[in-house]
Amino acid sequence: MVHGKADSLLGAVYLATSALTSVAPAMNQAMWCHPATLDNIDTLVQRGVDIIGPGDGIQACGDTGPGRMEQPELLIEQLANRFTNGKLQGKKIVITAGPTREPLDPVRYISNHSSGKMGYALTAAAIEAGADVTLITGPVNVAPPSRCKVISISSAEDMLDAAMVEAKDAHIFIATAAVADYKAVSVEAQKIKSTQKTLTLTLEKNPDILSSIASAYQQLFVVGFAAESKDVQAYAQDKLRRKNLDVIIANDISRQDIGFNSDENEVSWIDKNSSTLLSKRNKTQLARDLIEKIATACGSE
Ligand code: PMT
Repeated sequence: MVHGKADSLLGAVYLATSALTSVAPAMNQAMWCHPATLDNIDTLVQRGVDIIGPGDGIQACGDTGPGRMEQPELLIEQLANRFTNGKLQGKKIVITAGPTREPLDPVRYISNHSSGKMGYALTAAAIEAGADVTLITGPVNVAPPSRCKVISISSAEDMLDAAMVEAKDAHIFIATAAVADYKAVSVEAQKIKSTQKTLTLTLEKNPDILSSIASAYQQLFVVGFAAESKDVQAYAQDKLRRKNLDVIIANDISRQDIGFNSDENEVSWIDKNSSTLLSKRNKTQLARDLIEKIATACGSE
């Protein structure tokens, strides 16, 4: 590459393309450390080539040191970084995702079917847009995107505490989490015995995280989600007003093909003036579309 040799397919493509170029070197540690190699790498860097790695560790030849090809996940991440669209550059976004768990005793809890997919997809899309993202997540089985701050919580109270701290210096707050509306008035210290025929639980309302954040931090652009099983538009509009939000994203969770745990969703974007349907698509694409709309709505573009 440094000498412009086009005697291999790779060399010819490199010379012929004006595309961004990244290199992930893999070689023996002594080869990597040789001044000839390092000079060549310097030349490539000066020409705008992105060098990923190499990693350090045990090598195929038995040596130990720098020269291992970087992990594929890291390659993907660094390549993705090169395509940040910058729509939310300089913005801090706090996103809540997944369910909360409200304990009843040492083994049982109240929760719901949220998988975290919608919130995690929004996190990935916000990172793609160049935002500095904090993800506050309930317990889910999805791996969080890299390149964001992840705060794992369990209960609604924990989520509220984390959100209050993180939203203080944020620009945008997106509440995808399915927060349990109620918790047990008292959590039993010992396992509740299953000898009785019926069991009565006394529940009390959990704090409303979204409302608390919207009223505590007026500078925030606040986006809520509404999970509704009927009269979706009307109930969502009511939440938009009551919770003092800039936008609410309404989804019909009575449908099996969208909403909870599904890979796809169909939502309405509802703000103070209008309602726009975003027809069914996978959550990755939907998240990108929503982040683009959020960037436009909060004047980031
Ligand atoms: O996680 P997935 O499986 O991908 O599913 C995605 C989803 C269906 C969970 C998501 O698209 C969604 O609709 N999230 C909102 C779930 C919800 O709790 O909706 P709600 O209508 O009950 O609450 C309205 C809003 O208030 C939500 O933004 C919620 O985060 C927030 N809220 C609710 C109660 C509470 N105590 N505190 C809150 O902050």
